[in-house]
Amino acid sequence: MEEAADRHVWAVDVLGVGPSERLLEVGCGHGVALSLVAERLDGGSVTGVDRSAKMIEAAGRRNAEHVAAGRVELVRGSFERVPLGLHRFDTLYAFHVAAFWRQPEPMLAAARRALAPGGRLLLFNQLPGWGQISDVSQFAAEVTAILTRHGFETDEPITADLPSAPAVCVRARP
Ligand SMILES: C[S@@+](CC[C@H](N)C(=O)[O-])C[C@H]1O[C@@H](n2cnc3c(N)ncnc32)[C@H](O)[C@@H]1O
Repeated sequence: MEEAADRHVWAVDVLGVGPSERLLEVGCGHGVALSLVAERLDGGSVTGVDRSAKMIEAAGRRNAEHVAAGRVELVRGSFERVPLGLHRFDTLYAFHVAAFWRQPEPMLAAARRALAPGGRLLLFNQLPGWGQISDVSQFAAEVTAILTRHGFETDEPITADLPSAPAVCVRARP
């Protein structure tokens, strides 16, 4: 089972999860961040979406207790196409899901549909090739520009010089 890396722990700290919050993680992979989020919930829930059946299975194994308790829900499918029913989320987050900046049109349209009024979008990234905090700042500026072009209001990005590599969180609201 994949261990929580420093980037997962940092990201979930940045999320500042409220106990009754409704969250959506896009591209949840093995479900490592989902577990860390679920541990902070009391009445809230987190839904993990991933297009890979293998990843959804792994996330299910890792989060079996949380799924049984109704804190974690898992959905397999491409975020931009998957039906999420009537669910609306207070927080939508993703770690290292390049579709958000490579195919922003469908991804950000889907984010708008999924967010409740007043909801927030947090896009995290960390690339092994990033040696310096300045590499992160350039990435953050590019993603901020994409979000602005698609009508999102952005806050100042949050960066962290993690032991594994620098990381960033770009925050936005529709
Ligand atoms: C680089 S991995 C990161 C996994 C996890 N977020 C982490 O940081 O450990 C990207 C994940 O996003 C998923 N993914 C990429 N594009 C997606 C999309 N459009 N909809 C749903 N899942 C997607 C992939 O299947 C993969 O599991």
